[in-house]
Amino acid sequence: MSIVKRLPDSISQKIAAGEVVTRPESVVKELVENSLDAGAKNITIILKDAGRTLIQIVDDGAGMTREDARISIERHATSKLTTIDDLERLTTYGFRGEALAAIASVSKFEMLTRPSRDELGTSVQVEGSILRSCESTACDEGTSISVRNIFFNIPARRKFMKTEATEFKHVVDTVTKCALAHSDVHFIFVSDGDLIFDLPALVPLPERIEQIFGNRLRGALLPVERVSSQLHVHGFISAPSFVKRVRTEQFFFVNDRPIVSRSLSYAVASAYEHLVEKGAFPSAFLFLTIDPSHLDVNVHPQKLEVKFEDERGVTEEVRRALQEALSRATQATATEGALAPDMAMPDVINAGSDPARMRFPEYATPSNGNGHAADTRVKSAPHSEGLGTLERLFGAKNDDLFRGKAVETLPASSPAILARPAVEHTGLAAEVLKDKPVLWQLHNKYIFSQIKSGLMIVDQHVAHERILYERALRSMEDNNPASQQLLFPRNIDLLPREMALVRELLPELEKIGFQIRFFGGSSIIIDGIPADVRAGREEGILREVLEGYDEYGENRTIPSRDALAATFSCKAAIKAGDKLGQEEMHILIEQLFETQMPYVCPHGRPIVIKLAIDELDRRFGRSPVESLAKAEAL
Ligand SMILES: Nc1ncnc2c1ncn2[C@@H]1O[C@H](COP(=O)(O)OP(=O)(O)OP(=O)(O)O)[C@@H](O)[C@H]1O
Ligand SMILES: [Mg+2]
Repeated sequence: MSIVKRLPDSISQKIAAGEVVTRPESVVKELVENSLDAGAKNITIILKDAGRTLIQIVDDGAGMTREDARISIERHATSKLTTIDDLERLTTYGFRGEALAAIASVSKFEMLTRPSRDELGTSVQVEGSILRSCESTACDEGTSISVRNIFFNIPARRKFMKTEATEFKHVVDTVTKCALAHSDVHFIFVSDGDLIFDLPALVPLPERIEQIFGNRLRGALLPVERVSSQLHVHGFISAPSFVKRVRTEQFFFVNDRPIVSRSLSYAVASAYEHLVEKGAFPSAFLFLTIDPSHLDVNVHPQKLEVKFEDERGVTEEVRRALQEALSRATQATATEGALAPDMAMPDVINAGSDPARMRFPEYATPSNGNGHAADTRVKSAPHSEGLGTLERLFGAKNDDLFRGKAVETLPASSPAILARPAVEHTGLAAEVLKDKPVLWQLHNKYIFSQIKSGLMIVDQHVAHERILYERALRSMEDNNPASQQLLFPRNIDLLPREMALVRELLPELEKIGFQIRFFGGSSIIIDGIPADVRAGREEGILREVLEGYDEYGENRTIPSRDALAATFSCKAAIKAGDKLGQEEMHILIEQLFETQMPYVCPHGRPIVIKLAIDELDRRFGRSPVESLAKAEAL
C-alpha cells in the first residue's frame, strides 16, 4: 500500500494559506492591495482587537459582478494575469489569484460588492473555505470585505499571534506603507472605535509624510530625483541631522509596491556613510520606477521582496541619487552661510533641534489638520531651562511643579540605591567610597581621580546609566515605583506606532514610575514620571524610550524588562557634555560604586578605566616605583 497520499483540499488549502496569511496584518495588506488594484480612491480599514475579531476593508473601487465575486474566492482565480508573459508587464499588486481564497480558508469571510453599472450587488459568505451563501443584495458601490475570527480553524496559528499591541503595530506599518505609496487615495483607519488615521487624498508626498509621521521632519526633507536609462529614483530623505536610532522610517517602493531590500538599505547607509554616526538611521521615502520586465515580483510568498535583474546597478543608481540630494543640500546651506561642516558631525542626541531645522529649505506644506499631533512635540517643555545640574543629575526635587512621593523617596543625597542591604565593598569600590578622592572633569565627559594604584577614569554618561538602570530594574522587580506626580499633567499626542508600544509597555512603564492615562484616539496624559527624570524632560524621555525599545524589535532576545530599563537609563542619564560640579561628581561616583556592577554599562561598554602608575612610569621611561601597589584587577 502506498504511503504517499494526496492531501484533501481542505488541508492543502490551509497549508497554502499559511504562506500568504501569517497574521492580521497580511490580511489587511492583501485586501488593501486588492482595493488599490480595483482603482479605489477611498479605502477604510476597520479593526477590532487588532484584527483578531474583525478586519474590514471598505473601498469604492470597481466592484465585482456576481459571477466574478463567486469565482474570486477560488484558488488561482485572478483578473490580473492571463499568460505567464503578463508577469513581465505587471502593474498590479496582485497576480497569483490566491489571496481571497487563502483568507477565506482561515476565517469567517463576508464580501459585499457592486460594480457601479449594476443596481444590485452580491453578498458572499464563506467559512473556512466552505461557501455558505452567494446572493444578490442591495449594497454600496465598491467592495466591502469582513474577515472575522482569523485562524478560528487553525488553533496553532491563533496561539502564535503576538500581543494585540504587536499585531496592531504591524497593521499600522502596512497601512503606512500603502498610504505613502498612494497619496492620491483617502485612507481612513479605525481601530476599536478610535480613529487612527484619516489621510485625505491628493496631497504632495511631504504632506502625506507629515500626515502620518507628524511634523518632526518638516523642513528637513531633501528631495531625491535621478533619472537614468534603466531607473527613475525619486522621493525624499532626511537631512543628516535628522536621524533615528531605528530603521523604522526607511521605506522603499518599486513601481509603488512597498518592499524590503537589504541592498537598498545598504545604498542609504553608504550615501550617509560619513555624515551620520554608526547606528543612526536617516529617514528615507524612496520610489523606484523601473520597467517591469527588469524585475521579478514573484520571489516572495507575501510579495515583500522583488528581484532586480541588475541588483548592483540599481543599488548604485540609488546611492548616487541620494548622494546628489545630499550634496545639493550641503551646497544650498553653505551658500546660505550656515555651518555646512556640521553636517559631517551631526549630534544624534540633539537631532531634531530647531537650529538644525533652520538650515534646510522647507518642502513640506504645513497647514494640514493633522499637524496638531506633532506641534506639541517640538514645543520646548516648560521649566526645562534654568535647572541646576543636581536636578539634571538626579531629577527634580523641591520643585513647585511637583508634589508627592519623589521628595521623600529619592532625595539626591540619600538615593534609593543606598537603601538596599549594604553590599560589601572591596578593591577599588572600597577605596573610592572610603577615601572620597578629589575628582576632575575632563571635557565635560570623563571624571578623573587619583587612586592608590594610579589613575581612574570614569565615563560620566555610562556611569549614570548604570545607576539608573539598576534603580529601574529594582523598581520593576519590587513593583515599588519612585514616581513624582506632575502638578500639571502633560497631554501628549502619539503616533499610532508609539501608541501601540505604550500599550504594550504600560505595566513596565508604570513600574519605573510613569503614570499614564489614555485619552481618546492618539493622546495620552502623563500624570507622573520616574523620580530620576527631570522636570520638562518627561515627553522627550518617554518618546526616546519608545524609540529605543523599538530597536530591539519584536524578536527581542533579551528580556523586555532589561531592554526597557536599559533604554530608559540611557535616555534619562546625564550626557557627555554636561558640566558637573564637585558635589555632583562625588554623588555620581559614590552611587556608581554602590551598584552591583560598576564597571560595565547595560549595553556592555566599560564605565571605569584604570591606568596603573607602573604603566605611566614605563611610558615615561622611568623604573616603576616600588612602593606603589600593583594594579588590582577590576
Ligand atoms: N476589492 C476588490 N474590488 C474589485 N475586485 C476585487 C477586489 N478584491 C478582489 N477582487 C477581484 O478578485 C480577484 C481575486 O483576488 P485575489 O486577491 O485573491 O487575487 P489577485 O489579487 O488577483 O492576486 P494575489 O493573490 O496575488 O493577490 C482579483 O483578481 C480581482 O479581480
Ligand atoms: Mg490580491
